[in-house]
Amino acid sequence: MLTELLHRAASRAVVYDAIQLVAGAAPLLEKRLAENLGHLPSRPTILDVGGGTGLPPSLWPEGTTYVCLDIDSLKLAGFVGKKRPGSPVQADATRLPLQGEAVDLVVCKNVSHHLTDEQLPRLFGESARVLKRGGRMLFIDAVLAPERFRSRLLWRYDRGSHPRTSEGLRDAMAKELKIQKWDDFAHHFRYVFLAGVKQGALGRGGPAPRPDPAGS
Ligand SMILES: C[S@@+](CC[C@H](N)C(=O)[O-])C[C@H]1O[C@@H](n2cnc3c(N)ncnc32)[C@H](O)[C@@H]1O
Repeated sequence: MLTELLHRAASRAVVYDAIQLVAGAAPLLEKRLAENLGHLPSRPTILDVGGGTGLPPSLWPEGTTYVCLDIDSLKLAGFVGKKRPGSPVQADATRLPLQGEAVDLVVCKNVSHHLTDEQLPRLFGESARVLKRGGRMLFIDAVLAPERFRSRLLWRYDRGSHPRTSEGLRDAMAKELKIQKWDDFAHHFRYVFLAGVKQGALGRGGPAPRPDPAGS
């Protein structure tokens, strides 16, 4: 009994430490997004899928219409509480309540591991649907990295999550968008960064590039 209690306490401490490390990575991940915005039209519409409490407006060009979409109303209340520019939308990432070709940029950070294998293709399918042609999706998430002790701990104690490999996530995005960039990088955990572009009618998906070693 005592052993079990100690084990549970230790697990919580490990989870707490892991959460602190994940939170500590936020500025680095946001920098990746900012560096990869590419060319955006003036006054772009940016959709943050699974946006939680939102991303800082300093990342986007002036005049951006920012939409923070999340399934969790508490997260969206946190976004509203920050009084930042943008609109909260409570919805499922796999059934976006937006018209097709309405968005210039889709951002999706640290969300895919919450989605099942049935939901993941729909995340990319829906993101591609709402993007304008030439519009891009920027995607970041932690990935499986069995060689990293912290990664093993993160995934072991993050119950209910769906960790995937960098290649698996790239392949899932490549079914809907042409991959422009694929980087693996590490900050306590291993992450994948993907940028995909929506092409014309003949341009769905495309051959997947190799990861950029400079990105690690
Ligand atoms: C780890 S948080 C990341 C939040 C934010 N993107 C960030 O990086 O700070 C994952 C978010 O995904 C949201 N989420 C999970 N499943 C979702 C779904 N099916 N549709 C929309 N949001 C979802 C959760 O509510 C949560 O806010």
